[in-house]
Amino acid sequence: MDRIQDSLSLCTENEQRTWLAAACRTALAAGSLIRERYEQPHTITLKGAIDLVTETDVAAEAAITASLAADAPGIPIMAEETKTSHATVAERLWIVDPLDGTTNFAHGFPFFAVSIALLDRGRPMVGVVYAPMLDELFYAVRGCGARLNDGTISVTGTSNLIEALVGTGFPYQVEATLPVVIRQMQALLPLVRDIRRAGAAALDLAYVACGRLDGFYEMNLQPWDTAAGWLLVQEAGGLVTTFSGAPFSPFSPDILASNAALHRQLLELIR
Ligand code: IPD
Ligand code: CA
Ligand code: CA
Repeated sequence: MDRIQDSLSLCTENEQRTWLAAACRTALAAGSLIRERYEQPHTITLKGAIDLVTETDVAAEAAITASLAADAPGIPIMAEETKTSHATVAERLWIVDPLDGTTNFAHGFPFFAVSIALLDRGRPMVGVVYAPMLDELFYAVRGCGARLNDGTISVTGTSNLIEALVGTGFPYQVEATLPVVIRQMQALLPLVRDIRRAGAAALDLAYVACGRLDGFYEMNLQPWDTAAGWLLVQEAGGLVTTFSGAPFSPFSPDILASNAALHRQLLELIR
């Protein structure tokens, strides 16, 4: 529990501390459940041709929902596997991806995370992304900055595209989106240092926040993929918009997150 106490030094307001403690404690517990099941055989169900769900996604979500309801009662929860909340953007709302990067998890590729965000009338208040296999806890509180474990994080200062490492993702709707995916790749790949498709959007955004990536873009995402990472990037000094350059909301399907310095150049290439 020292780890939770340490995280609370990020903010001073009691309400923020309650939310942050709830989100960090919940993410760490769900992450340890996922880690324990990583080496076990998985039961895989298909939600679409290539869109998987395992029994671990469901178990992690149940644990998260129970934990948030106990630690921060009365706040509705929108979570990927149950989609239980009827809350609107006018209300306070937890947005949860119990296991972002399920395909990686199912294939024994250790890049995946738990993602938990708290929105207040559409504005992100708390964002936590926990990568259990590296034991990396990324967290941010609105107006207070962002951290990875006990260290403050910030985006890179790279302003030359050719020095930039950029992340992306491929939507599950492959046929419908392939022409755009290819066109963006064709525009970007010759001009940047390299592109990564690591397979967990929430963690990709955390990687932009801590400077391992200079930018990240993907289309057709859901609120639980982006809500926490959105705040991490902003609080680490980065910029997050839609593909048209409009202000981002987790209810926007397209996201471009960057270190701010590269934003305009990346926007021109992917839009
Ligand atoms: C997926 C991952 C992936 C992204 C997909 C998401 P899931 O989330 O974030 O990187 O490309 O669009 O749906 O299904 O593993 O929670
Ligand atoms: Ca996801
Ligand atoms: Ca998921």
